[in-house]
Amino acid sequence: MKKLYFKNGDGIPSLGLGTWKSKKGEVYDAVKTAIELGYRHIDCAPIYGNEKEIGEALKVCFDNKIVKREEVWITSKLWNDQHQQRAVVPALKKTLSDLQLDYLDLFLIHWPVVLNKDLYRADSPEGFISLEDLPISVTWKGMEETLSQGLTKHIGVSNFSIKKLEDLLSIASVKPAMNQIEMHPYLSQPKMVSFCKENEIHLTAYSPLGSFDRSETMKGKNEPVLMDDQTILEIARGHNCSAAQILIAWAIQRGTVVIPKSVNPERLKQNLDAAEILLSVLEMDKIEGLNRHYRFIDGTFWTVEGGPYTIANLWDED
Ligand code: A2P
Repeated sequence: MKKLYFKNGDGIPSLGLGTWKSKKGEVYDAVKTAIELGYRHIDCAPIYGNEKEIGEALKVCFDNKIVKREEVWITSKLWNDQHQQRAVVPALKKTLSDLQLDYLDLFLIHWPVVLNKDLYRADSPEGFISLEDLPISVTWKGMEETLSQGLTKHIGVSNFSIKKLEDLLSIASVKPAMNQIEMHPYLSQPKMVSFCKENEIHLTAYSPLGSFDRSETMKGKNEPVLMDDQTILEIARGHNCSAAQILIAWAIQRGTVVIPKSVNPERLKQNLDAAEILLSVLEMDKIEGLNRHYRFIDGTFWTVEGGPYTIANLWDED
């Protein structure tokens, strides 16, 4: 499995298992099967509501000597209601306890959005705190503490725009090592890819298959179906593989980490095998040409009338 390396020599496997939307009762088998198949990277978050079950699967894998802890890369994230500096270390300790781990490999700020304590969503302005009132620089100090306390090996962010990365880079003692964002051929984010390359920040692509198992309330009207794209399907036919595999191979080949979610053993295997598919330069260019800057996860759920967050200030785009 290809890895991307950090300054200290640690390597993150380019393919990881996504666990967002993996339900309780399903995620245990998914994680255990994935590790048995050869996955060495699991992407988690407390907001997915399944870290305890993932922890049980990891424990069984370690106890049965399927893998050692140091052979698996585990990422988790800080939820939006824990952005106070003093809340960050306890939030990570809770995640570690649920995952039954002593340390994470990577800990990310999940969103550049702040909620009041104990909220996982908010539907009125009172539930939100603006980034002026609780800046990322404050949260980042807490993130740096998790690192100095040995609770995680690397720290980073998720859903950050180039502007927010620039702001963070200008104040951080420890630079963010990763930005995890939505990326796929309809949202290939070329400017972000070059910015992160220049600044030695790795990128992880979430929703690489278009996340069509999201709840209907999270879906836009007339959403395109990535896996039905004719160009992708044509390239897939040429390689005698599935559209999903082409999407995964493309993400890896362009130098990003990719975390497709599956709870199905055949698809878990298929997705792992995709890491070995080699696309030609022409195929890579054709896929890059599909970009239409389309977000499946556009963040509208953070925008309420009179609240501090808007689509414009979330993504810092026109
Ligand atoms: P399942 O979990 O039943 O396999 P994303 O990673 O973009 O969030 O997409 C996840 C969705 O894609 C889930 O509905 C998942 O279903 C499905 N999926 C995962 N792998 C494949 C695959 N190889 N072929 C088709 N669908 C897949």
